[in-house]
Amino acid sequence: GKSGYDHYMRKEINEQPRAIRNCLRGRLSEIDRAVSIDEIDDLERPERVQLISCGTSYHASLYAARLFRDRGIPASAFHASEYDADAIPIDDETLVIAVTQSGETADTLGALRDANRWGAETLAVTNVVGSSVSREADHAMYIRAGPEISVAATKTFASQQAALAMLSSALTGECSRGFVEDLRALPDQIQSILDRSRAEEVARDYIDSDAYFFIGRGYGAPVALEGALKMKEITYKHAEGFPAGELKHGPLALVSERTPVFAIISGASNQEKMIGNVEEVASRKAPVIAVTDSPAAVEHHVDDLLRIPETRPQLLPILANVQLQLVSYWVANQLGRSIDKPRNLAKSVTVE
Ligand code: F6R
Repeated sequence: GKSGYDHYMRKEINEQPRAIRNCLRGRLSEIDRAVSIDEIDDLERPERVQLISCGTSYHASLYAARLFRDRGIPASAFHASEYDADAIPIDDETLVIAVTQSGETADTLGALRDANRWGAETLAVTNVVGSSVSREADHAMYIRAGPEISVAATKTFASQQAALAMLSSALTGECSRGFVEDLRALPDQIQSILDRSRAEEVARDYIDSDAYFFIGRGYGAPVALEGALKMKEITYKHAEGFPAGELKHGPLALVSERTPVFAIISGASNQEKMIGNVEEVASRKAPVIAVTDSPAAVEHHVDDLLRIPETRPQLLPILANVQLQLVSYWVANQLGRSIDKPRNLAKSVTVE
């Protein structure tokens, strides 16, 4: 049941510290600063990585592709439904990772079958043991988020990001003590966001808006897309996410005093450029809400702050996303939406 919560989504947002703890359990070693993932310890460092997925899982894949590239492995994320048309040539040195919470998404399963047929090594990153994708891939890694009932993916997205962060370390052997420590800190950091978030007030202040925009750079860009997807799914309001640099190439035409902009700002990466983008939208009178681990540096540039604990840029999206989930949840709640079962959507999309 909902254990006293009004909605499964709220319950599942609040379960994230435990979900991440489960995901990390037994996979991090403080002594040798290494990540080891038992179920895939026979996987070697690939020449290149392709990730295939849909929706929220695609946003986790965009995040992972950036992590792999940062660690020296060429990697790209594909919408599973576009994979057959888009894929660059692959061979047995290519690791194709199907990222799917349910393990049953038809488009993802179809792309996985293509990758298998083309001779790639394949890996499922999924929440469901024994799912179709886990059975058809050469290897499977489990994210261990526990069952997710709400149609909108929340804790599974957090666990996908944590799992993929560990996977990129395990496959590249690149893992500092700091990274292991920062991964371990995530559950308590998420708990502190859940305990103190001002998202409900922020949602109320901007409930009467024409649209909601989400911007970020680098590791903040995929989570901006995710913030917008969650908002449109459960509130039915117009929402869009962009890499912040793309704003001035079109979307800026939509920005007005009736379009709040959520800006994901890391204190350690791209901060100056993000503040530049904030100034661009603020000069069009858009209210700006910063989701940031460096409030002191940004507070006089923005209208509102949603704080997150300080962390490295690679892990910031996992924390920033919790605030964005809560904002969408409270907007939907105040609008009286059917939060756990949004119109027209199904939890598992088993048709192409
Ligand atoms: C959004 C959402 C969907 C799924 C997508 C893929 O909240 O849940 O966008 O992420 O349908 O589902 P899986 O991960 O099961 O392949």
